Amino acid sequence: EKGDSPLFRNDEAYALDVTSRRITLRARALAGLDHGATTLWQLAGLRHSRERGNPPATSLPALHIEDAPRFAWRGLLLDSARHYQSPEFIERFIDVMAAQKLNVLHWHLTDDQGWRLEIRKYPRLTSVGAWRGPRHYGGYYTQAQAKRIVAYAAARGVTIVPEIEMPGHASAVIAAYPRLAASEDPPRAVPSDWGVYDNVLNLEPATLGFLEDVLAEVMAIFPGPYIHVGGDEVQTTQWRDSPRVQARMRELGIDDVAHIQRWLTLRIARFLHAHGRRLVGWDEIVEPELPKDAVVMSWRGTAGAIAAAAHGNDSVMAVDPALYFDHRQTDSAREPPGRASVVSLADVYAFDPLPAALDAAQRAHVIGLQGNLWSEHIRTEERMGWMAFPRAAAVAELGWTTAARLDAADFRQRAAVLPALYDALGMSYAKTVFAPRPLPPSGPMRTSNDLELCTSAIALSLEDDAPLDGPRAKFHVDLLDPCWIWRHARLDGVRAIAASVGQVPFDFQVGDAADKMRFPEARGVPGELVVRRDGCDGPEIARIPLAPATGSDAVTTLPAVAIAPQAGAHDLCLRFAQRGHDPLWVIDSIRLVEHVR
Ligand code: ACM
Repeated sequence: EKGDSPLFRNDEAYALDVTSRRITLRARALAGLDHGATTLWQLAGLRHSRERGNPPATSLPALHIEDAPRFAWRGLLLDSARHYQSPEFIERFIDVMAAQKLNVLHWHLTDDQGWRLEIRKYPRLTSVGAWRGPRHYGGYYTQAQAKRIVAYAAARGVTIVPEIEMPGHASAVIAAYPRLAASEDPPRAVPSDWGVYDNVLNLEPATLGFLEDVLAEVMAIFPGPYIHVGGDEVQTTQWRDSPRVQARMRELGIDDVAHIQRWLTLRIARFLHAHGRRLVGWDEIVEPELPKDAVVMSWRGTAGAIAAAAHGNDSVMAVDPALYFDHRQTDSAREPPGRASVVSLADVYAFDPLPAALDAAQRAHVIGLQGNLWSEHIRTEERMGWMAFPRAAAVAELGWTTAARLDAADFRQRAAVLPALYDALGMSYAKTVFAPRPLPPSGPMRTSNDLELCTSAIALSLEDDAPLDGPRAKFHVDLLDPCWIWRHARLDGVRAIAASVGQVPFDFQVGDAADKMRFPEARGVPGELVVRRDGCDGPEIARIPLAPATGSDAVTTLPAVAIAPQAGAHDLCLRFAQRGHDPLWVIDSIRLVEHVR
């Protein structure tokens, strides 16, 4: 329908009328009809599911709805590079997105730890680049599978934006084709550490040719208007150290390694533009010369979006941490592993996609927002759903509803229907968000989840690497400063302290931060858990040897160590005396023992 109403200037807008005689759905485009049908389904289906046991018939209230989204880009990033998810899972994920009127799936297909898309011209990208580690972990999507997913999404109003990272986060592509590397000693296998590697692409003409070949195949699979080419966290060390890159820089007139990324981004943006596509990149790509059709994805705060708007570029808000769904959703011990600091449903809902620093004209350049489901710490599909939902519902509402009608308390109440939606679509979600808040721990035992961390540089709820099959422990730990506080521990009558501990390989690329880590001095091998009273500078009251745990990959309960009698409540500080940071010793639990046999 092409009426005069402002409603019908937006392809996603719809009008829904329910009377005693008929239901009428009007829109100017299929996307609007889709959304209207989804609303109708929600009104009917969710009402029905609350009336379980009744026959599959439902009643609808008479109503008139005119509805259109606030933003054109309402998305989720799915990181299939760090951990692979099956096409079946991705289709279910798209079902849930569509049911919440989310319309962009940003598919993170390549990273240091894996290349996940079949490229016909370069078979080693998937024969080598899709697999890592001694157990050959990985997987990839064939072009036929990717096209099926694209079609599945399109039929549900969801556009897929593929991301092919360049020129950094490039270890997997380099392992597949070492001739692309800036380094003379490139990795020959896909690495397994998390974090940011130094590996970057070189500036050879053949490397540009490779990128354009890859993007040509990518464009043939993904017909949407946007192609994401990464651009985040590009390390310049290898460019600085490479005589060949220095020579190429002189030929190309690039005066500084800091300007290489700009040169590449402009080249690729022109290539994509010539093929009728818009480049999207992380906010490191912002700069005045960026072609005006390029889109900036603001992740290091909102500054990238503000700078983009000032230059006349569109932006998408994907801000860390509010929209980073690798953070835990509550502080419950039931949460799956992830970044430890909590980003709650309410935290997401409180995010403001239009910062006050933008004037009205600049606001029009913010085309939307998305939640980022980074998967380093999310090993299973069931956990992917848990971490994404229900937080994605807050993204959906921020993306759809005008600011004046956002109401956090009302949203929280309405969110009560979401479990029925996720259950109906076969998608997992964070049960903790809908459960009563657990009581604070009491008594003589604390798990590491119950302990405070002394610092929060890289605070994780980190999953143990063992056992291979079956449940693994989770450790609450700051990777760069493993140190815990038991606040107000009651020491009256306590005769000994016992600990269960684990050890995890330090498989994190954190630059020189690892070399700066300091530990109390170990007395034995491999070290001890040191317990101090009244904070980390207080007197040492126990030193629990780690030797009995040396041979164990999983959690070990160490023999209790006697302490001198203490009175009252004290803050206990717990740190490992160890030589070097690998393996990293971590606390599983601490117990205060009143009777020593
Ligand atoms: C990012 O988190 N490196 C975009």
